[in-house]
Amino acid sequence: MKRTLIAAFTMMTAITLLAQPLSTEQKIEALLSKMTLTEKIGQMNQLTGLGLSGDMTHRIKEGRVGSILNEITLETVNELQRIAVEETRLGIPLIFCRDVVHGFKTIFPIPLGQAATWNPQIAYNGARVAALEATSVGIRWTFAPMIDVSRDPRWGRIAESCGEDPYLTSRMGEAMVKGFQTDDLTNPTAMAACAKHFAAYGASESGKDYSTTWVPEVQLRDVYFPPFEAAVKAGSATFMCSFNDINGVPSSGSQFLNKQVLRKEWNWDGVLVSDWGSIEQMIPHGYSANLKQAAEQAANAAVDVDMMGHAYESHLENLVAEGKVDIKDIDQMVRNVLRLKFRLNLFDQPYAKVHQAPYDVKAMQQAKEAALEGAVLLTNNGILPISPSIKSIAVVGPLANSGRDQVGTWCFDAEPKHSVTPLMDIKARYGSSINIIEALGLSYSREKNPVAVKKAVATASKADVVLFFAGEEAVLSGEARCRADISLPGDQLEMLKQLKSKGKRVILIIMAGRPLTIEQEASLADAVIYSFHGGTMAGPALIDLIFGLASPSGKLPVTLPKMVGQVPIYYNCKNTGRPSSDVTLIDDIAVGAEQTSIGFTSYHLDAGTGPLFPFGYGLSYTTFSYGPVVLSAPELSMDGKLVATCKITNTGKVKAQEVVQLYTRDLVGTLVRPIKELKGFQKISLNPGESKVVTFTILPQDLAYCHPDMVMRPEVGVFQLWIAPSSQSGEPVSFILQN
Ligand code: GLC
Repeated sequence: MKRTLIAAFTMMTAITLLAQPLSTEQKIEALLSKMTLTEKIGQMNQLTGLGLSGDMTHRIKEGRVGSILNEITLETVNELQRIAVEETRLGIPLIFCRDVVHGFKTIFPIPLGQAATWNPQIAYNGARVAALEATSVGIRWTFAPMIDVSRDPRWGRIAESCGEDPYLTSRMGEAMVKGFQTDDLTNPTAMAACAKHFAAYGASESGKDYSTTWVPEVQLRDVYFPPFEAAVKAGSATFMCSFNDINGVPSSGSQFLNKQVLRKEWNWDGVLVSDWGSIEQMIPHGYSANLKQAAEQAANAAVDVDMMGHAYESHLENLVAEGKVDIKDIDQMVRNVLRLKFRLNLFDQPYAKVHQAPYDVKAMQQAKEAALEGAVLLTNNGILPISPSIKSIAVVGPLANSGRDQVGTWCFDAEPKHSVTPLMDIKARYGSSINIIEALGLSYSREKNPVAVKKAVATASKADVVLFFAGEEAVLSGEARCRADISLPGDQLEMLKQLKSKGKRVILIIMAGRPLTIEQEASLADAVIYSFHGGTMAGPALIDLIFGLASPSGKLPVTLPKMVGQVPIYYNCKNTGRPSSDVTLIDDIAVGAEQTSIGFTSYHLDAGTGPLFPFGYGLSYTTFSYGPVVLSAPELSMDGKLVATCKITNTGKVKAQEVVQLYTRDLVGTLVRPIKELKGFQKISLNPGESKVVTFTILPQDLAYCHPDMVMRPEVGVFQLWIAPSSQSGEPVSFILQN
């Protein structure tokens, strides 16, 4: 009797289990158990689109390709997918990937410009629009967000970053992850995000791309890791290695980064892809003697996918046979790839279809909002906003009508003909009521053309006011586009000087992929608006601001230096033992002055101490007053929380947004601490005369930093706290963190 009951129970259990759908992990195991080593390595191989070439289709049929990048024709994508699903032994679908960084067709401001909005919703919107357009051609994996903290404007890829601060980068990066992925990766409009480049790529020595980095582990953990950990928490499905070596070890071979931190400490189960050829590049790094050793080092450093390095497809089978790479590690990496494909629901829905046509009205409006909120008003002597009753306006400069350059770097699929440039927009909207005088002068940012400049200045001099759209061509920023001199290229400064010598009132609007050194330009111009390559709708956004249809609300996500010799210069720096206060500048030193005559503190004789414009800075068409900061208590215990409030009032005449920033300073630490650290921000909108009490809650963990034992923890002591409109304003209040 008892045996019968047990048998019946066992049978019922088996039937129940068989009736239940397999979990993803069970499906992975079932598939993995059937795969040959060649097919497993195939999943780890990512090749660039070769269309329907025989070589590509042949490799797919043999199960030797797991993902394909840069294929963006829907029909080709679906045909390649059909071959993978219907003409291979196991029918494992491909993933199609692309760098959809700040837009696919509808281009948003470059990430640095999106960071200047200090509005994560803007970043979310941009990523969502990009995903809707890119998944419509079959792209389900984007290589974004790029969340490398960058303090060096010489580095071309600062354009793709969210600037110099870990906290702001973290908030913007997580919003982009959510925008690309939504909360459900099976959604056919979802694209797997890729947190890149892991790690410390922005610390490239001398601002040269691919250069070496020397970063102490405590600084990795305090500055460079936080945005990536935030991306893990936001659910980023993939990560990408960085090209650089960190302290002598290239990221693609770093077991510390990829196993210790990413997998063990952060318990992350996504796909880690190399950068383009970064495994192979460990040979010129001098870390690998040959491609076989590079493959061995990368596989043993848990790099799941080899992007265009041909290292895995060439050597992994032999490395496994020789016992240099454990098949268990291969299986684990293949699990990660299969998991991503299951999460994207590619086994059930492998084929793509159009979800949203490019340049959708709402998308273009959101792109304009992003450009609006990302523009930073640096100076204004009262000339802005200009009145639509003005009689004549001259439009000059190489960025006035360049649909290609205003969208910036990393927008392979942008179509310049869809860009709305400032010249196009001002003519369309105001051309019937204002005499718009077109005198670009320079046709591209690097142009040196005294004759053209002179002629344009003469023409523009007839106007009541001059709008000078200056900056950088898109090609001067982005990957491998580093500059040792970060001034305005070509004859742009010369043109501004000539306009001012004619007594003209000039509004300078800069569109660039990095901070530029514009000290002279800022002193000459009557107003300066700084826009980090604002995207498809940069024109309408800037013209709205110029005519006051909206007030500027952008704040700098990165420091603007006076001169490149100050670099690296960033707000969250250390105080040093001899901080400078009053300084004697080079031209003020008396001839014959003695060595000991002008003090000994930390500054440059020819630049002084601070930047031209600091992190977090940006003006408005209104003014805001900040009341005193009020703390809920004078101390914060390790198990408590501190509430800080401040009343902000719009004391001007126009409605505007303000980015209210929270900074703290740990006055004394086991390791010296920065003079300020951004710990929060809120973007608020106030009508004239309106006030709002802004509240921040600070927890002890918000004050944590990496100690010599590599543990992140807060430390008791006296702190200062600011609630302010920039990193260089406001008065601090103090509190004590205690046990
Ligand atoms: C590039 C970039 C990386 C990009 C990849 C694919 O070299 O470093 O950011 O995602 O190759 O295009």
